[in-house]
Amino acid sequence: MYKLYVNPKNKKGHINRELQGNFSEHLGRCIYEGLYVGENSDIPNVNGMRCDVVDALKEMKLPVLRWPGGCFADEYHWKDGIGPKETRKKMINTHWGGVVEDNSFGTHEFMELCRQIGCETYINGNVGSGTVQEMSEWVEYMTFNGVSPMANLREKNGHKEPWTVNYFGVGNENWGCGGNMRPEYYGDLYRRYQTYVRNYGGNTPIKKIACGANAGDYHWTEKVLETCFDHGNGFMDGMSLHYYTLPTGNWSKKGSATEFDEKDWYRTLNKTLYMETLIKRHGAIMDQYDPDKKIGMIIDEWGTWYDVEPGTNPGFLYQQSTMRDALVAAINLNLFNKNCDRVKMANIAQLINVLQAVILTEGDKMLKTPTYHVFNMFKHHQDAELLDSSLATDLIGLEDGVKVPNLTESVSLGTDGKIHITLGNLSLSDDYDLEGVFTETELKSVKGEILTAGMTDRNTFDNPETVRTEAFTGASVKGNILTVKVPAKSVLHLAVEI
Ligand code: AHR
Repeated sequence: MYKLYVNPKNKKGHINRELQGNFSEHLGRCIYEGLYVGENSDIPNVNGMRCDVVDALKEMKLPVLRWPGGCFADEYHWKDGIGPKETRKKMINTHWGGVVEDNSFGTHEFMELCRQIGCETYINGNVGSGTVQEMSEWVEYMTFNGVSPMANLREKNGHKEPWTVNYFGVGNENWGCGGNMRPEYYGDLYRRYQTYVRNYGGNTPIKKIACGANAGDYHWTEKVLETCFDHGNGFMDGMSLHYYTLPTGNWSKKGSATEFDEKDWYRTLNKTLYMETLIKRHGAIMDQYDPDKKIGMIIDEWGTWYDVEPGTNPGFLYQQSTMRDALVAAINLNLFNKNCDRVKMANIAQLINVLQAVILTEGDKMLKTPTYHVFNMFKHHQDAELLDSSLATDLIGLEDGVKVPNLTESVSLGTDGKIHITLGNLSLSDDYDLEGVFTETELKSVKGEILTAGMTDRNTFDNPETVRTEAFTGASVKGNILTVKVPAKSVLHLAVEI
């Protein structure tokens, strides 16, 4: 019997809804086909945005969307994507697949998409190949309320009112595709560029995100903070971190998304758990500069990265998603909850048809991946209060040095007054009996939902419901005790009424 101890009186921090954010880049079929089909498409749309996709994203309560990249961001010149579509500049998307980018999806379209979804906006600016003036004018174009050259241009292009930019990324991966910079150099550029990411009066203040490290590059975090810190409030609201789960850890042979065995299962989950080390170690460096944790760790690219689906454009990063990805999502989302004192936003890569997508499309067809269903279960944690919880786990796995804890959990007090528990069982073979002990709290009832399936099961356009959530009846409550049997390879959400 595994014991989960929960103290509902001990609130550990606020779980920002932004921990369940997503990322949409001009890459493969994420924007075009996935989100945006144009006003004249036969696929049902509103102002060019696919209705089926928007509805699904509303259902999972997508809180925030990052755009336009990724590596694309540091090659993107926003003025190419405004004005009449017929006159917008056509270019080659050199990073991703060498296809023609016609810029028909630009700032106005992104803002319209976020309006339809009802989510916050996270714009990533161009430091690698863009000027300070360009960045400054983009912010003015989007947010200035009054008479100004950029506000006037926005009005001329059909949008008089300013938009809200909730987050602005000052460059992306500037240690790599965003300019191959050294951290000291980027740190200086950050100081300069962020000066012109202005907050115009009356608007929701823009939160500025500095480009953070690639996985375990602690030197980057140290040096950027050393260069940039100590400039008071509003100078830097967040610092990013990118970490992808590669089953093999090898970029030239990452492994298949769908053809894998039990060892690959545990290797992938083991690699995923490295996220915890990254949060702790980068967090420890941030603590030295920012002990009050005012600067958020923004994990704005995470998820699985496999070899592309055979027969697809290697530059499109299209991959399928199985029950294994559901566990990867559950592990990460539980970790983000548990570290919500420092992690203030996270954005899985990417929203549709790219990497660990929540949605796949093919023509007019759309399916929800196992990862989608995990987000849909975790949405109850959005804006909840993290509760003190602990669970003694066992290490499991098939190879020495590639062990994982058998269970993962996080517990919150939701905005609906219920206690929400999300559990993942990482074992391929074993169900576990679990007893939840709630300090001085009478439990009235419990309702559950579960996602479980075969190891390599996935949803396809022919069988889109192979992996789907179902009602879970294997939990009960009595007094202050919750009893639950957690099935092998499953993700569970329990809502406990108190
Ligand atoms: O998400 C795909 C790519 O991964 C992004 O463009 C880049 O930021 C990262 O290397």
